[in-house]
Amino acid sequence: MKQSAECVAALSPLEHLPRTGSDPSIPEYLETTYWWAYLHPNAVRLFEREWLVNLILWGNFRKLRDLALNDLGDASDQKILQLACVYGDFTQQIANRMGKKATLDVIDVAPIQLDNLRSKLVPDARVRLHHQDSSHLQFPDASFDSTLLFFLLHEQPEAVRRATLAEAIRVTRPGGKVVIVDYHKPGWSNPLRYVMKVILVALEPFACDLWRKEISSYLQPRLVPRSIVKVCRFGGLYQKVVISV
Ligand SMILES: C[S@@+](CC[C@H](N)C(=O)[O-])C[C@H]1O[C@@H](n2cnc3c(N)ncnc32)[C@H](O)[C@@H]1O
Repeated sequence: MKQSAECVAALSPLEHLPRTGSDPSIPEYLETTYWWAYLHPNAVRLFEREWLVNLILWGNFRKLRDLALNDLGDASDQKILQLACVYGDFTQQIANRMGKKATLDVIDVAPIQLDNLRSKLVPDARVRLHHQDSSHLQFPDASFDSTLLFFLLHEQPEAVRRATLAEAIRVTRPGGKVVIVDYHKPGWSNPLRYVMKVILVALEPFACDLWRKEISSYLQPRLVPRSIVKVCRFGGLYQKVVISV
């Protein structure tokens, strides 16, 4: 395993999936910690503004989005999985890069987030939305070429984070990639280190796990990916980890 520590949608559009008996329920951590960001109707109205998402990421939304998407390489005929909805145009930008044979499946555990994403997408039979929990995916093994996680892991308690990573790797084919962009511990000289610590401790209780431990440490020990490459950005505040399965 190679590890570099360089710090250096339609559902025919978006057909509305019928709720079934196997629909996941909202996880407790989302209900108690993140209701104000993802579950309340006013949350969606407030946060579905690109300038605000950009402000939360200190002006780096587009750079971080592209950092993740550039790893898709030639997406012309890939099967892509996006684990969880993202405010802004993250999903639309993936769809823009896809060729006619490519597909994009997006899952989220919150129906309100899937409805919001559906409302942002133009009808496109290559893009499908699914009501699923990232820690218990319903796709068969090796279904996708690339799996993307954009600022999902820091919101999850450790056990859910481990299960999400295991599932991301399970559904990605050998030779495919899992691309993760998320928070990271900023360097000592980064002035945002102190501000972010206060913000994360107050609002995002699981996020500092990613300051303390490598994302790779949450992988199942018996899993041996071909490589894990990490790069940090913006004084170490953010990281991209690419796991080659
Ligand atoms: C991708 S994360 C954070 C994205 C980023 N902060 C943004 O700008 O939107 C937010 C999404 O993750 C979803 N989510 C959280 N836990 C999940 C889980 N276990 N399974 C599926 N989706 C989950 C939430 O419902 C929410 O839509």
